[in-house]
Amino acid sequence: MKDFKRYTITAALPYANGPKHIGHLAGAYIPSDVYVRYLRSMERDVVFVCGSDEHGTAIPNQALKENTTPQAIIDKYHAQIRDCFSALGIAFDIYHRTSEKIHHETSQEFFLQLYNKGLLTEEVSEQYFDEEAGVFLADRYIIGTCPKCGNPNAYGDQCEKCGSTLSPRELINPRSTLSGKAPILKETKHWYLPLQQYEPWLREWILKGHEDDWKTNVYGQCKSWIEAGLQPRAMTRDLDWGIKVPLPDADGKVLYVWFDAPIGYISATRALFDELSSGRKQYSQPQRDFGKVTKEDWLKYWQDKETRLIHFVGKDNIVFHCIIFPVMLHAHTEYVVPDNVPANEFMNLEGDKMSTSRGWSIEMHEYLEDFPGKPDVLRYALLANLPETKDSEFTWKDFQAKNNNELVAILGNFVNRALVLTQKYFDNKVPARLDLSDIDKQVLKNLAAMPGTIASSIEQFRFREATAGLMDVARLGNKYLADTEPWKLYKTDPDRVRTVLNIALQIVANLGVLAEPFLPFTAAKINTMLNAPVRKWQRAGGELLDVGHVLGTPALLFEKFEDDVIERQLAKLRKKQTDIEIAKQPVSPLKSEITYDDFAKLDVRIGTVVAAERMPKSNKLLKLSVDSGVDKRTILSGIAQHYSPEDILGRQVMFVANLAPRKMMGMESQGMILMAEDAGGKLVLVQPVSSVRPGSTVS
Ligand code: MF3
Ligand code: ZN
Repeated sequence: MKDFKRYTITAALPYANGPKHIGHLAGAYIPSDVYVRYLRSMERDVVFVCGSDEHGTAIPNQALKENTTPQAIIDKYHAQIRDCFSALGIAFDIYHRTSEKIHHETSQEFFLQLYNKGLLTEEVSEQYFDEEAGVFLADRYIIGTCPKCGNPNAYGDQCEKCGSTLSPRELINPRSTLSGKAPILKETKHWYLPLQQYEPWLREWILKGHEDDWKTNVYGQCKSWIEAGLQPRAMTRDLDWGIKVPLPDADGKVLYVWFDAPIGYISATRALFDELSSGRKQYSQPQRDFGKVTKEDWLKYWQDKETRLIHFVGKDNIVFHCIIFPVMLHAHTEYVVPDNVPANEFMNLEGDKMSTSRGWSIEMHEYLEDFPGKPDVLRYALLANLPETKDSEFTWKDFQAKNNNELVAILGNFVNRALVLTQKYFDNKVPARLDLSDIDKQVLKNLAAMPGTIASSIEQFRFREATAGLMDVARLGNKYLADTEPWKLYKTDPDRVRTVLNIALQIVANLGVLAEPFLPFTAAKINTMLNAPVRKWQRAGGELLDVGHVLGTPALLFEKFEDDVIERQLAKLRKKQTDIEIAKQPVSPLKSEITYDDFAKLDVRIGTVVAAERMPKSNKLLKLSVDSGVDKRTILSGIAQHYSPEDILGRQVMFVANLAPRKMMGMESQGMILMAEDAGGKLVLVQPVSSVRPGSTVS
């Protein structure tokens, strides 16, 4: 790897508009964390920045859905996402927010720098405006008929039915999602970044300069964008949520979210050095000793030509990080541009695209709740299966297999055997290494080469391969113990056992170093069990433990997942999707008006269920005996799929007492139990909040 003086590593700022799922982790956050932990272990000068993307229409959109304010949305999800990242060991030096003042200032300064140099073009165009709501409509707020497939509910930017990219003007019969009315076209002024002017530079920088070192999926996307012809892109929007455009005639206009968000990397770095130099810690959690720094030191990480800037992002962010943001940085003139954007493709889930809104996802917080204390298992399952060159797929079965067959059976098993045998035979002290046999020499030779192999994979952003390289270290140890069988030799040849365990323990200690970027919690446990200090990458490959060194207490690193754990997750996933589908179905329209007299004819009462059984030969009906206060009557109710007889026995229910008796399956039903029913057919009993005398009327 070409040596750089320092590294600025960014991971895409997640929108603080909802929870983030494991596909996001696989796309950007786990790879970047491994890369940075490796650089730290190599004692490089590195900063790792991230934070919440808190602007754009995504935020007010979610506020509408949750019936709250944009501020409440970003506060809630900023905290949730930050805490999940931290629990998963993703160790940013700072996790900042784009709603912070320093970010607003940095973005406005950046905009003004481009504006004052005359690099932005001003254009008046016609945009859809909702007269009733008094606002210009973002693309997502306009729906209409798709010109390609006829879907009546296509969005202004995309038709979700046929997948076409659209612009609002293409929609047939457009209407506003805010008022439901047809929007009008109204003139509005915006500032554009003329991307086409930078085409020669982009060709030179990317197509010529990075053909060999950028990933083919990334390079390919850039190439097709450039070849398709670049267009001016508006850097401002008509919106009331965001960063005000810092110009006198720009009322009601904010910076385009994709203008301000990547500048968030810069402001996060500024905030980090503000906090480092003042000793205040609000957003930062420095992961290494930065030494004595000043407030201005952030500049080095962005403006010094010897800094290597790398953006980790998912597939859908490539153009913003390879074309638009670099053009902004280049046009500004003072900044470095990214040296690489090692974007991943998508990770699918159980045969389908992952999507929070469709309920087909595993959210970070869901995993952490269901698998407490097991962040490394997820890290491993994702790393071993990253969508690095093409889309990949997460399945719970594979998760189980990775855990049981690799983490438990290879890594955990090896470490445990080496430690337990040492405890048993040598009083928990590292035994001496005596004469080396050929197999010992071969193992030591293999071990010595492994850190370099893994490092080279990491440096080429091949994290899957690097993870396999890490597991090879444990495999080497496991096989070594299986080949030498020290547990059979102690009685006859204790010196041989000394040598074997010394070597096995050196391999364990190497795992303590090499596993750190991938499985930081496991590496820490290994080091504790060895009672050994944390060591840097350069030390790996050889002997790390002295003879006579007293080890700590061995404990199991991983535990097996039985099938039921996995089946429960599959069931949960399916249920979540159905629940969301149901929630999305429209509520049934109101029935036509009735008079008070119509209503007064109904005799609705509370009764108590005194007996309940399944109706023979029916899987829908329960036969209930209800104490109505006046009599005891039989009511047949179609709730057998929602309640068992035991569930309902003894409960108070609401029922229509004067409905003419009806025969069902040869039996008379003397009333009707009232239920809430949603569009998905789910039935829920309606009960009084506190119990009342049977026979009480409801009116
Ligand atoms: N919020 C964007 C997304 O989730 C990513 C922003 S990355 C940054 O897709 F460059 F803007 F920071
Ligand atoms: Zn369509």
